Amino acid sequence: MAEGVLDAGVVAIAGDHGGVALKDVLKAALEADGRTVLDLGTEGTASVDYPVFAARMAEALAKGEAACGVLICGTGIGISIAANRFAHVRAALVHDAFGARLCRQHNDANVIAFGGRTIGEEVAKDCLRVFLSTPFEGGRHERRVAMMGPR
Ligand code: RB5
Repeated sequence: MAEGVLDAGVVAIAGDHGGVALKDVLKAALEADGRTVLDLGTEGTASVDYPVFAARMAEALAKGEAACGVLICGTGIGISIAANRFAHVRAALVHDAFGARLCRQHNDANVIAFGGRTIGEEVAKDCLRVFLSTPFEGGRHERRVAMMGPR
């Protein structure tokens, strides 16, 4: 594992009903890339509450069950807001590979968030691969990330 890159041996993934279709696509892509996926739900398209799945992600990261994760709701907005209420979560809502790269290089994000109703499957897969392979740059960014509180 290159220095500064996320430990992505196990990748946690969770989403609400607005994200479940993309969750299944990304889960399959991760497994095809040889990664172990910790699927925290939801299953199926019944309406559920996205804060529940953000909290499940926060708990899995806190317990060390995974070092990074993917969160998906309809827009990616609600679930990223909810996840970022936990101090050890740095969730970045991403729409393109540029954001996926910069959220790692500058923000040391440990969770990538997507809108299942707003992003194409291939773009999301590309973003996820960039996210998992891009190292945190440290340096001046280390200070700024530290200013946001404990991890
Ligand atoms: C659910 O309908 C929707 O509100 C949710 O998936 C998400 O987009 C909220 O931010």
